[in-house]
Amino acid sequence: MLTVRGLSKSFGQVRALQDVDLDVSEGERLALIGPNGSGKTTLFNAVSGAMRPTGGSVRFLDADITRLTMEQTARRGLVRTFQHDAVFPGLRVEQNLELPLIRRAGAATELPADVPSLLDLAGLSGQAASPAKSLPYGNRRRLGIAIAVALNPRLLMLDEPAAGLNERETHELLEMLERLSALGVTLVVIEHDMPFIAALCERAVVLNTGSVIATGTPAEVRRDPGVIEAYLGGSLVGAH
Ligand SMILES: Nc1ncnc2c1ncn2[C@@H]1O[C@H](COP(=O)(O)OP(=O)(O)O)[C@@H](O)[C@H]1O
Ligand SMILES: [Mg+2]
Repeated sequence: MLTVRGLSKSFGQVRALQDVDLDVSEGERLALIGPNGSGKTTLFNAVSGAMRPTGGSVRFLDADITRLTMEQTARRGLVRTFQHDAVFPGLRVEQNLELPLIRRAGAATELPADVPSLLDLAGLSGQAASPAKSLPYGNRRRLGIAIAVALNPRLLMLDEPAAGLNERETHELLEMLERLSALGVTLVVIEHDMPFIAALCERAVVLNTGSVIATGTPAEVRRDPGVIEAYLGGSLVGAH
């Protein structure tokens, strides 16, 4: 579904991505992990069109999308969320969903295409009329994902969706992502929470200083000596 070849991105002297290859199959639930500053968000940016890569190519559903904008990749079904939640705080929850529904693109899918079913998917039924800013943090994050779902993604890229969530909120997020996966959405998830990753993802790709250093099941990569070394003093939550 997604084929990334030789992707590079530099910021002046900083080589944030160096020759990254990545393949994502339709229906997969892939984790993208790596220490802070390893290039995970930059990879999302370069793949989704939020940033132009310095080199390399990105193919999605048999088309070259390397030079498309984020808006154009979203219309083709590649939708990403941001590390910090992107909801319209001053609008009601339902208004947050009405706006992206207008921009919904692509063929009909199993995905909810109206406000009540999006609220149901996100576990937010009953909160349609609340101002988004009044939602507890975990609910606000799921609203942010529901906004992305309203765009009708085939591939959804989530940047640290569980960051800052408590255990119950993390579980609610996991349930939402499992429902999305069951509806046919392919998931690529940047996360530090290893138990969360192990519960959701069958495969993990590990980045370090802009390069892929390991690929395998979550259990395999967290035993990998190169991965353990990359994380020394770092932030691999729950990786004992
Ligand atoms: N817009 C930017 N301008 C300059 N440097 C950046 C920019 N975005 C990221 N970087 C640098 O690129 C590297 C990778 O960052 P990032 O992709 O955000 O890492 P991660 O998401 O894995 O924590 C870091 O060294 C970071 O400082
Ligand atoms: Mg990041």
